[in-house]
Amino acid sequence: MTQSSTVKGKFISFEGIDGAGKSTHIAFVAEWLGAHGKTVVSSREPGGTTVGEKLRDLLLHEKMHLETEALLMFASRREHIAQVIAPGLARGDWVVSDRFTDASFAYQGGGRGLDRSKMEALEQWVHPTLQPNLTLLFDVPLAVARARLDATRTLDKFEQEQADFFEACRTEYLRRAAQFPERIVVVDSTQSIDAIRAQLAAILEKLL
Ligand code: TYD
Repeated sequence: MTQSSTVKGKFISFEGIDGAGKSTHIAFVAEWLGAHGKTVVSSREPGGTTVGEKLRDLLLHEKMHLETEALLMFASRREHIAQVIAPGLARGDWVVSDRFTDASFAYQGGGRGLDRSKMEALEQWVHPTLQPNLTLLFDVPLAVARARLDATRTLDKFEQEQADFFEACRTEYLRRAAQFPERIVVVDSTQSIDAIRAQLAAILEKLL
């Protein structure tokens, strides 16, 4: 844990390729924590602030240079940390974020091929000491994720990418899970919703 000693709350991020099913489980985790007496702040990236939501709109719908995309992801993150994450943790709240920096490594790094050292430099700049206490990585084979996506909605810029893009994102997520085994827990998202909920509850119990 690398948060400063003034931090009282806990920070949980949710990750996975599009269609992995993380959205279904974020609500469950927030409810579970609330039922266990925690004040929960639910947020997302890119987004989570007024500026961040404007950046999200650009990021999800406009074509742009790869490095512009990475910089805007971290700009959104900087604002999110300043306005939501740091104040929430300082109050002692539990901050639950739909994606954080692992997504930049997976999508801009793995998926788009931006050199990992660029992300590491941005991470050092934007949050040199802050890391989630726990990252839940929802993992499914690509075919399952695609089928879920196609069934549910109109696809945004990232969701319209081809299979090899998502395969590379998934590979990078799993590489990071192996690199940071104490922080990142891989959840097999092909399991039933009930089985995943039971697993999540067991993981959360240990964090309380
Ligand atoms: P997502 O979190 O999947 O939200 P929704 O469920 O509403 O579609 O969408 C955010 C998209 O942004 C997703 O495709 C991944 C992408 N993304 C990055 O490429 N890099 C990042 O650093 C972050 C936070 C997200």
